[in-house]
Parts: sequence; structure tokens; C-alpha cells
Amino acid sequence: AHIPVLCIDGPTASGKGTLADRVADQLGYWVLDSGALYRATALAARCAGVALDDEPRVAALAARLPLHFEAGRCFLDEEDVTDALRAEEVGLGASAVAALPAVRQALHQLQLSFRRVPGLVADGRDMGVAIFPQAQLKVFLTASAAQRAERRYKQLISKGFSANIAGLLQDLEARDARDKSRSASPLAPAQDARLLDNSDLSIDASVEQVLAWWDEKR
Ligand code: C5P
Repeated sequence: AHIPVLCIDGPTASGKGTLADRVADQLGYWVLDSGALYRATALAARCAGVALDDEPRVAALAARLPLHFEAGRCFLDEEDVTDALRAEEVGLGASAVAALPAVRQALHQLQLSFRRVPGLVADGRDMGVAIFPQAQLKVFLTASAAQRAERRYKQLISKGFSANIAGLLQDLEARDARDKSRSASPLAPAQDARLLDNSDLSIDASVEQVLAWWDEKR
């Protein structure tokens, strides 16, 4: 119970993943990319031919997700799905299954299991509110929608996907709206979260800010 947890929550493409990886690296902690669990659930449902709104069947898939992380890669069964998980359509599917309470429930325990010595950096939407409410530090990361669309664009292009900014901006706003308005764990900062707007911050500056807060809190 004394294993420290640092949560980084925020909207799509706010840079949570990069920030979480960098901070975890600095602290020598484990990292939980909780979005990957929802993405893997959406992918598993697609592969199994299960409709994304079939709550009991999607939740059953989530409860026994054959997911493994190894050397920075993510495997579903034996298949390396690291890149497939990043596809925009999988992200949209993730946001659909993430709205189902039974799916969130099914993934709860799995997320807790990432808390291991010497500590965990957890990134997602509800890490600070629902999964690790006792976390030592909760950061809520934001950035303008235009900035986030541009970052997502660069990320997709660099992974060999095709993309266009206007379409991405639209998807991103639709996903944010759905994440904020759902009744199960809507996207919102925890009451005790520190807000960090990184629209005009370099990644190094963001890492430094979070590490400074961490030093204060510990
Ligand atoms: O962060 P990422 O874009 O990978 O998350 C994909 C989707 O999974 C989000 O749009 C959100 O709907 C959902 N999600 C969630 N709770 C989390 C992490 C992700 O609902 N903790």
C-alpha cells in the first residue's frame, strides 16, 4: 500500500504518454498506459467480431484480455499489436468501449496490478479519480485542441499511417466530448489534481515541472 503512484490524466493527444514515459524513466518507476487496455479491448472485440456496444460480451473479452507487455512492445495473444493499437480507428473504438461501465469494471483489477515496487506512473483519464484515488500526485494535463491535433498528426505520420489534420481535429473533439459526457468515470481533473497546460511547454519543461511537484509531495 506504500508503493508510490503518480497519475497523469488528460484528454486525447495531450502528451500524457510521452510525459508518463519520461517521468517514469527519470524515477525508475513502472508505467501504466491505461488507454492501451481500452484500445486492446476494442481491437480484441473487432477480431472476435463482437459489436462494440455489446456490453456483456465486450466486458467478458476485457476481463480475460491476453495482453502482455515486453520490452516496450505490447502483445495480444502472440501478436505484436503495439502499432495497431495506435490506429485512429482503434482509438475511437476504445472510447466507445470505455463508456461501458462493465468494461471499466472488468479492467479495474488489471490496472491495480501495475502498481509494483519501486513505484508507478499511471496515465489515462481516470487514474487519479477512480483507479488510484490515494496517489501521492495527480497531474491533469491539457493542451489546446489545435496543438493536440497537430501532435497526433505527427505521431501518426511517423508511424506510417496516413492522416489529415482537419479530420483528426474533428475526431479528437468528438472523442473528448464523449469522454467528458459519459456517466461512467467522465474525464475530469481530480479535486486534488495539479493542472498543467503544456500548449506552449516543451516536453523537457513539462517533465521538469512534474518532477518538481513530485519532490514537493514526497
Ligand atoms: O489515451 P488513449 O488515447 O490511448 O485512450 C483511448 C481511449 O480510451 C480514450 O479516448 C478514452 O475513451 C479511453 N480511456 C479511458 N480511461 C482511461 C484511459 C483511456 O476511458 N483511463
